Amino acid sequence: MALIKAFEKRVSVRNFTDAPVKKEDVKLMLEAVQLAPSGKNRQNWHFVIVEDRAVIEKIETAVRKKNQILAACIEDSDKKRKFEKFVEYALVFKRAPVTVLVFASDYHPTGVNEMQAAGLAEEASQLERTAPGIQNLGAAMEHFCLAAADLGYGTCWMTSPNYAAKEIQESLPLELPGFHLVAMTPLGVPGQIGERPKRKKIEEISSWI
Ligand SMILES: Cc1cc2nc3c(=O)[nH]c(=O)nc-3n(C[C@H](O)[C@H](O)[C@H](O)COP(=O)(O)O)c2cc1C
Repeated sequence: MALIKAFEKRVSVRNFTDAPVKKEDVKLMLEAVQLAPSGKNRQNWHFVIVEDRAVIEKIETAVRKKNQILAACIEDSDKKRKFEKFVEYALVFKRAPVTVLVFASDYHPTGVNEMQAAGLAEEASQLERTAPGIQNLGAAMEHFCLAAADLGYGTCWMTSPNYAAKEIQESLPLELPGFHLVAMTPLGVPGQIGERPKRKKIEEISSWI
């Protein structure tokens, strides 16, 4: 399939069938990740493929609990209700047979230490905001999601559950020293797919000089 077709096919999928995800297909998705560009070729990512239902349920419980803990601290009742309701968007992963957790290790922008040493603290903090380490992860994640779409699978890039990152990491039977959770996605054969949300116009998202 031409890449442009995979772009069209990739939508955020929030409903899945029970059909299994083939290991060899996941390997192809990870091969696509291997091909992603990264600053200084650091490849500062690690993908954890969770097929074990008991672990997925532990992650779900961790997110629900953290949502309740945080909600209990919100005084405004409207904001509290919204935050509690939004937990469903943080739990989309539980509807798929596989959950993919995406971890990053730190990668600081080139020149940031030098700027700090030169007394340019304000500019150094602006430079940090360009977050090349996270840009690397975005590239890797998009490669994964596009490869999944190309192979007939659905994904939904998710960051909402990150407020429970600590508890999610504690739910795993493995440790990844130096890595922190940045995103996750369910992975499975799509069930019912909703409409793709409307996009901004080209004139809004670009300027030509
Ligand atoms: C960084 C990032 C975080 C996202 N987090 C969530 C999430 O936590 N839960 C969710 O249901 N969708 C999440 N999404 C999916 C977006 O809502 C979706 O990409 C957007 O509405 C455009 O729709 P489309 O992906 O179907 O084209 C996230 C997407 C991105 C790129």
